[in-house]
Amino acid sequence: MCGIVGVIGNTETTDILLNGLEKLEYRGYDSAGIYVNDQNGKDFLVKEVGKISQLRNAVGPDVQGITGIGHTRWATHGEPTVDNAHPHFSSDDRFYLVHNGVLTNFNEIKSEYLSDVQFRSETDTEVAVQLISKFANEGLSAEDAFRKALGIIEGSYAFGLVDTQEPDKIFVAKSKSPLLIGLGDGFNVICSDAMAMLDRTNKFVEIHDGEVVILEKDKVSISKLDGTPVEREYYTVDIDANDISKGTYDTFMLKEIDEQPVVMRKISSHYLDGNKVNVDPALINELKEADRLYIIAAGTSYHAGLAGKEIFEKLCDIPVDVEVASEFGYHMPKLSKKPFFLFLSQSGETADSRQVLVKVNELGLPSLTMTNVPNSTLSREANYTMELLAGPEIAVASTKAYTANIAVEAVLAKALGEAKGIQAAIDLDLKAQLAMAANGIQTIIDEKSLFEGIARDYLTDKRDAFYIGRGVDYALSLEAALKLKEISYIHSEGFAAGELKHGTISLIEKDTPVFAFISDKIGQDHTRGNIKEVEARGAKVLRIVSSDFAQEGDQIVLPEIDQMISPLISVVPAQLIAYYASLQRGNNVDQPRNLAKSVTVE
Ligand code: F6R
Repeated sequence: MCGIVGVIGNTETTDILLNGLEKLEYRGYDSAGIYVNDQNGKDFLVKEVGKISQLRNAVGPDVQGITGIGHTRWATHGEPTVDNAHPHFSSDDRFYLVHNGVLTNFNEIKSEYLSDVQFRSETDTEVAVQLISKFANEGLSAEDAFRKALGIIEGSYAFGLVDTQEPDKIFVAKSKSPLLIGLGDGFNVICSDAMAMLDRTNKFVEIHDGEVVILEKDKVSISKLDGTPVEREYYTVDIDANDISKGTYDTFMLKEIDEQPVVMRKISSHYLDGNKVNVDPALINELKEADRLYIIAAGTSYHAGLAGKEIFEKLCDIPVDVEVASEFGYHMPKLSKKPFFLFLSQSGETADSRQVLVKVNELGLPSLTMTNVPNSTLSREANYTMELLAGPEIAVASTKAYTANIAVEAVLAKALGEAKGIQAAIDLDLKAQLAMAANGIQTIIDEKSLFEGIARDYLTDKRDAFYIGRGVDYALSLEAALKLKEISYIHSEGFAAGELKHGTISLIEKDTPVFAFISDKIGQDHTRGNIKEVEARGAKVLRIVSSDFAQEGDQIVLPEIDQMISPLISVVPAQLIAYYASLQRGNNVDQPRNLAKSVTVE
């Protein structure tokens, strides 16, 4: 999704902007631009469709200054064109604006306030910059014009605004979309994600919704929309620069798949002291009171929630509903008497999940966010946070955050189950299981060439593919199919193995690839029956089977692990198959078309 960077007070502004935008590339975008002002009457605007490398080529050596804003745009209103790319500017060339989010009332603003303005773009953002300019031309200061516009604008936004008449300031505001301030030595920055500026600073200040920030080179003034000043301390981000580079890998995705054993060990040593679980006792006490757990998430995190359902229900004796965030918020079912909300989000910024959390907070209901980004919006706004500890995940396709999420769900389930005196939780040696997961994942990733061959054998020239399974394998099939479709662009579906014959089996023809998971004890015989059904119709089936249930002829036999957390291991073949299928088709594995890493619009 759109990414914002900005800097004030640094002679390397152009470099800082371009490097920062490169670090935000992972979020997904289709055009980019920068605006640079030398605070001495000269300024530059460069915008390009395509990659940052194209923008870099278009930026001449004369583009230098000490104030600047930059943007990667993921098209929402209007196609990816230079005119629609940010920064946008007012008709009088006075104000330059970058924006992340969606303004819901931009049409109303256009007709009510800006009927005489000639627009250059189709974007909602241009409406905002023209509105600010209109108020300034009516006699307001830039700051007051900005505040007045913010009072009218509805929707989601993170804004960085430069006024050419006061280029020693950047005017900043946010609502619902992420934005941070970074504190440099003699200069200051803004960014959608700390990663964009980690090579310049590790000190960051949060901006809360509805706040306005005036950023100067040596001063940060935060206030509420009505002008009331706000004091806020900075926090430090401890991410090793190596964590956000590819190192010796060609792609982030493969690096992140390979990091999963380390992540399992990190989760184990952080949360488990022998068999004792370290989880906030206040959280466990609150959860003990709950009569139902609502897991809210999107995409891969939703699939991690489906896998978690079985773990919580078994270990904690609590009913669990797993809900797609974008549906749940607007069609909330009748809640139980004592609900507890668990938000799963790698980025901690997903707008669909966030809108549910806002409603949950309005209802005064308790919540926990499991996230990979501790200072993210969902983390700040929930009552409790548990970190996934996966390290930065840069590839758009989520891999290590999925397995980390399931492992952290298992940690929480064990802590809660033990507190409730449930024998299954007391008996579970999670430390040993996570060690088995780490070793099991390693065994699979040591066999990469096997999966490279499978991708070639099963998926070359194929349009469709299916993943099937029952129980925990059904939840896993949904994730496996998502991984394959999002990066290889092969149409793939995850199916409950038993449901296939109720319609979808009509799509099976000669050599249709069907990947079948068998880790579920109760369902295994029936799944094997379903495999026979599709084979009888010509499908080319790959059986991926837990060692406990392996039979002669099964092609992939997975290392041993408790069935409940088996997706920790069984997802890895699917990640690798998707990875190689994408590579073999010549796709951009890390940044698949149309997708964004941090989905900050609803
Ligand atoms: C798929 C993927 C997405 C995300 C989804 C939610 O590989 O990464 O489906 O899982 O956009 O994102 P988070 O977890 O950041 O809330």
